[in-house]
Amino acid sequence: MDLTDDVAAPLGLLAELTHRCPLHCAYCSNPLELAARDEEMSTAEWLEALSQARALGVLQVHLSGGEPLARPDLPRLVGHASDLGCYVNLVTSGLGLTEARLRDLAGRGLAHVQLSAQAATRERANRLAGAKAFDRKLAAAALVKAAGLPLTVNVVLHRQNHDELAGIIELAETLGADRLELANTQYYGWALRNREALMPTRAQLDAAEPVVRAAIERLRGTMEIIYVVADYYEPFPKPCMHGWGARQLTIAPDGTVLPCPAATAITTLTLDNVRDTPLADIWYHSPSFTAYRGEEWMSETCRSCDRRGTDFGGCRCQAFQLTGDAANTDPVCSRSPHRGLVDLVLDAPATPELVMRGPAR
Ligand code: SF4
Ligand code: FES
Repeated sequence: MDLTDDVAAPLGLLAELTHRCPLHCAYCSNPLELAARDEEMSTAEWLEALSQARALGVLQVHLSGGEPLARPDLPRLVGHASDLGCYVNLVTSGLGLTEARLRDLAGRGLAHVQLSAQAATRERANRLAGAKAFDRKLAAAALVKAAGLPLTVNVVLHRQNHDELAGIIELAETLGADRLELANTQYYGWALRNREALMPTRAQLDAAEPVVRAAIERLRGTMEIIYVVADYYEPFPKPCMHGWGARQLTIAPDGTVLPCPAATAITTLTLDNVRDTPLADIWYHSPSFTAYRGEEWMSETCRSCDRRGTDFGGCRCQAFQLTGDAANTDPVCSRSPHRGLVDLVLDAPATPELVMRGPAR
């Protein structure tokens, strides 16, 4: 039987063009070992990867990093993805965005910009970014609005900025954001290293809930607000990636193809590279994409559970990072025999200093 009969094509591609970045966020979910500049795919290789992604069925391309504006060939990649018929989203810190560059990108078919923000106030935002970024982000947002492009502001929430939540919502309103993503930190890559310093307190989460709920109501029809919960505090895990190898794929700067952006964390996975293997073969047949697709791989805990079609057993990367086996039930789950590992983290009293993200090699 042809495996492609049973497996849907991917809808989205996260194209991590580079790991180089002007910011040093302690919550960065990129891997500890970043791809160096000389390991990055060439323009021709990215153009080919985008063509293969479209042929495979991809309709949404998220150009990300690191900072995608660090790639001088970004306009060509935007234009190519758009010409292929894809909806093209730029995921950026805003640093390096000028009026001329944005006009060029928009002219080539850029459809949407997602801008990161670290906090509501200049001093704190700059401290959390490890760079004087705040004013440049305000300027970038103004450029996006002036160009008539839809703007999403993305803020990663953690212990060091949760108390500014109301101010963050106000900031997004001031910037004219069409959408605000308030995402509690997910602990992968560099962020896992800072987990104890970033973990919000129960009191912070309790205080956030009514603020977010009121803002969602007040801004309905003006600014959409997405609130991503702090999953360690939840009784059930998130439906990570809507299931492994189900909807989206990631291509890392060096061409490594990942079932999820954090999948290099699973050191037992054999990963393929789009420089050597056609993307369609990787999506449908590779050991990495087929490893946790569907339900066959599940432990008895998930396989016999009525929620397995809702959360797909949670997150494979989290299961691997915390238990050493990616096929285990996500330890966030209250039905997991490993839930105690998560509770131990929540009970940890220490709040060590943040370790800022180091540069790419
Ligand atoms: Fe989800 Fe598995 Fe927990 Fe059931 S046991 S809720 S399927 S993670
Ligand atoms: Fe990799 Fe959840 S982050 S499966």
